[in-house]
Amino acid sequence: MDIEIIETEDGSHTLFSKTFNEIYHSRRGAIEESIHVFIEAGLKHVLANKDHINILEVGLGTGLNALLTALEIQTTPSQSIKYFGVEPLPVPVEITQQLNYEQLVAQEGVAELYTKIHESAWNSWESITPNFQLYKAHTTIQKAFVDTPTQDLPTFDLVYFDAFAPSKHPEIWNLEVLQQIRQQLSIGAILVTYCAKGQFKRDLKAAGFSLESLPGPHFKREMTRGNAI
Ligand SMILES: C[S@@+](CC[C@H](N)C(=O)[O-])C[C@H]1O[C@@H](n2cnc3c(N)ncnc32)[C@H](O)[C@@H]1O
Repeated sequence: MDIEIIETEDGSHTLFSKTFNEIYHSRRGAIEESIHVFIEAGLKHVLANKDHINILEVGLGTGLNALLTALEIQTTPSQSIKYFGVEPLPVPVEITQQLNYEQLVAQEGVAELYTKIHESAWNSWESITPNFQLYKAHTTIQKAFVDTPTQDLPTFDLVYFDAFAPSKHPEIWNLEVLQQIRQQLSIGAILVTYCAKGQFKRDLKAAGFSLESLPGPHFKREMTRGNAI
């Protein structure tokens, strides 16, 4: 099997990909990292000013970010989310069924929600809850915007850039990919990522983002938030 389940320091599971020789989340804590980078610095920041938002995730993976996002929006029924997750290598359901997120996230309905996220169809918009719709795009980020029918492709307000590390997957962390993403964003859209590498930040600027450096998760010095200008 190309994928192995491992436990991170906050007790939550993550995966190790033998193909990429890389882990899906921080070894210091998968859930803690997702909450810090994507939910706190991304989702809550954008939801403070908008009632409906469209999210693009680069690397749907275990679906942990999607799960935490769906749980967060359940608490505010007057707001809604369309979530477009790109993933060329879907994690088999036999593996996602073994991940311990539902035991660790103490919110009602979490197990049903996680199952629904993984069992929903690929390449079409599916209603997961009354205010959370999901499109799982079975393709790469390099091809997602041409592979997806135009009527299914929204303009995004928030990007979770959660690819494998630049050293392990340099093809994704480049100016061309960022420019393609930028063209699909509304003005003022936000991109968040755990990465704070100099070359990536220069590419983000060149693609049309202003940058903020925020404290990273687990006492890491920095993470990055870009603002589409
Ligand atoms: C760091 S992991 C993602 C973690 C994920 N957000 C989660 O919460 O589990 C990176 C993901 O990017 C996916 N990926 C690999 N190549 C990709 C590509 N060209 N475009 C988009 N995603 C890709 C991997 O299969 C993997 O699921």
